[in-house]
Amino acid sequence: MYKIAVLGTGYVGLTTGIGLANFGSNVLCLDIEKEKVAKLKEGIMPIYEPGMEVLLRENKKSGRLNFSTDIGEGIKWADIIFIAVGTPQGEDGRADLTAVFNAAELIGKDINGYKIIVTKSTVPIGTNEKIKKIISSADTGDHEFDVVSNPEFLREGKAMYDFQHPDRVVIGTDNQRPVEAMRKIYRPLYLNEVPFVLTDFRTAELIKYSSNCFLAMKVAFINEIARLCDVVGADVQVAAKAIGMDGRIGSKFLHPSPGYGGSCFPKDTEALAAFSRDADMPLMLVETTIESNKKQKQYMVEKISKSLGKLDGARLGILGLAFKSETDDMREASSIVIINKLLEEGAEVKAFDPQAMDNAMKIWGDRITYGTDEYDLVEHTDAVVILTEWNQFRNLDLEKIANLMRGKLFFDFRNIYKPEEVETWGLKYIGMGQKV
Ligand SMILES: NC(=O)c1ccc[n+]([C@@H]2O[C@H](COP(=O)([O-])OP(=O)(O)OC[C@H]3O[C@@H](n4cnc5c(N)ncnc54)[C@H](O)[C@@H]3O)[C@@H](O)[C@H]2O)c1
Repeated sequence: MYKIAVLGTGYVGLTTGIGLANFGSNVLCLDIEKEKVAKLKEGIMPIYEPGMEVLLRENKKSGRLNFSTDIGEGIKWADIIFIAVGTPQGEDGRADLTAVFNAAELIGKDINGYKIIVTKSTVPIGTNEKIKKIISSADTGDHEFDVVSNPEFLREGKAMYDFQHPDRVVIGTDNQRPVEAMRKIYRPLYLNEVPFVLTDFRTAELIKYSSNCFLAMKVAFINEIARLCDVVGADVQVAAKAIGMDGRIGSKFLHPSPGYGGSCFPKDTEALAAFSRDADMPLMLVETTIESNKKQKQYMVEKISKSLGKLDGARLGILGLAFKSETDDMREASSIVIINKLLEEGAEVKAFDPQAMDNAMKIWGDRITYGTDEYDLVEHTDAVVILTEWNQFRNLDLEKIANLMRGKLFFDFRNIYKPEEVETWGLKYIGMGQKV
């Protein structure tokens, strides 16, 4: 049985560690954040990810899953080391690879025999070659090792399901030696006939960025169509459904929203755009996607402002802060741009999210107030604004909401209600590209 170390216990590292332990490997998850590791040792998830805590506890109990901050010891112990540290947006949109290169250096310093280093972090084209060089130059013992590019495609909120049911597993290498080990650790997927795409480093790196940028482009596209529907009086809900029925297009990612956010699409579109500019081959569709998404967030504020007349002094109740439902992640969430703009224009904001309140408080502190639930939130507001499509917001007691509010405006920026069901209660419905 392989001994696997995972460097970084964020959304991806933790899912990978728990997932691989669940597939039968012996896994040690490593992180520099002591508090996070202490929680994990207690069987407590440091992030909200549905269904994962049970697997964390089960695999810990079985002895196959352990946590440590002793990175050096972990590197020495492991046969296979996953790098799953963050690659946030850096200067001019480029990916900040500091944590990845640090991890490579630590591996090089403590390598003590043949090891396979697997890059899970999303990294620009050419990075795995650099990782190889860093490990070699930090290694004083001339040990053999292989590097594998194995990008991750999971969605937050469905991380474990996606880990266990990927559409494909991408394995980028510069030789065949590590391939068999990769097949073995992913054996349950291999047996389930999940396609394995075997390729080189650069293609694997490109696949990850291109996939995310394509999806971001699809989101931006349907948001542009929704904006057009607003002015020409067409219905984006019907249109998106019909467009998605075309097998060449597909129905996924055709849902109007207040713009994409999260820890991947914004930074990955920026990173690929910057990378392509550096390579003197700018990707115009990606550049435009980024601009279109910024416009969408701005457009949400314009919609609110236009309906209210003025934002100064208006009381707004915001339902949903996380960048999407089923996660507490607020990195690059549309809510941040939208709420900041509303505050700048003099509005009073009260907000509620089922999971992201702690993260929200770190962002806004006492610049906004916080609801304890949906109904506490809407009390005495001029308008309610749905930004995140949490299930619990899909079946609100609209009569109660109408009675609690001071005003009548109901902004549904995820199109989770039909205009007529909201307007029955005397509220004014404003959705995205919907005929009212
Ligand atoms: N979050 C997603 O949905 C998702 C999906 C696919 C791919 N990715 C990619 O996976 C990577 C990780 O993303 P994430 O969202 O899990 O990040 P994250 O910020 O949630 O977690 C990164 C973790 O790495 C730790 N870390 C940093 N340096 C370290 C080191 N030297 N040794 C050990 N741990 C270290 C940090 O303390 C943190 O806990 C990124 O490249 C991201 O683009 C993310």
